[in-house]
Amino acid sequence: MNLNSEIILKTQLLAKHVMLEDKQLTLLQDINLAVSTGETIAIVGSSGSGKTTLLSILAGLDLPSYGEVYLKNKPLHQLNEEQRSQVRADHVGFIFQQFLLISSLTALENVMLPAELANDDNAKQQALDLLAQVGLSERANHFPAQLSGGEQQRVAIARAFITKPDILFADEPTGNLDKYTSTHIADLLFDLNKQFGTTLVLVTHDLILAQRCQRRVEMQGGRLINKQHLDHTKSEQLNTDTKIIQAENV
Ligand SMILES: Nc1ncnc2c1ncn2[C@@H]1O[C@H](COP(=O)(O)OP(=O)(O)OP(=O)(O)O)[C@@H](O)[C@H]1O
Ligand SMILES: [Mg+2]
Repeated sequence: MNLNSEIILKTQLLAKHVMLEDKQLTLLQDINLAVSTGETIAIVGSSGSGKTTLLSILAGLDLPSYGEVYLKNKPLHQLNEEQRSQVRADHVGFIFQQFLLISSLTALENVMLPAELANDDNAKQQALDLLAQVGLSERANHFPAQLSGGEQQRVAIARAFITKPDILFADEPTGNLDKYTSTHIADLLFDLNKQFGTTLVLVTHDLILAQRCQRRVEMQGGRLINKQHLDHTKSEQLNTDTKIIQAENV
């Protein structure tokens, strides 16, 4: 497939099925999505609609059952775990819904880890700088259990940015946070996006956060339902539209 160089992420007829007690369950169906380099996009939709499942496949953490997914022109659907892991290390940052900090490592060590794995000699200084940016210099030596939920979330953001990823996936980055902390976390994401030119793909229930993104797509029952966003070429004029586009059939 010949991809436009400005498209960082593209899917074609993506589907995910799992077997549960001899029955096939469809978690994702007919997902066609294109994301431009540097774009900020929100994936919204009710609980269980497939957002986390989709994000995992887009980031190369999981494989689709059917269809194609290209990240930086790499066909993730054709790569094995080791190859996908390399693509992730080279291009991807991920903030998980449950943060997934390593409990035996301090905040500083958690943030340093991806850079150390990439043999970056300057890992510690970069981690300290990022912790300062997320306002956690004083908490660098705390273990996750010694941090509040919002602080853990900020550590997860610092960790996701340390490798200066081309694209950052965040699953509910402001979930379960108070309004002040949510606004602060969102500011950090968009500031870091501006600073590094990182493409942001955010899953969120937070409409204020969704509205700060250039584009929103909505999921329902494993499908993207606002079809005007499926075709990237037709959606360009909508990129600056701040309205949540309602589904055609709701
Ligand atoms: N491994 C699995 N086996 C069976 N069903 C699964 C599996 N993973 C997810 N599901 C189901 O797929 C659906 C989509 O799950 P997913 O986690 O993607 O939803 P979500 O949109 O992220 O929801 P939330 O907003 O609550 O985080 C849910 O109904 C969930 O129960
Ligand atoms: Mg989820």
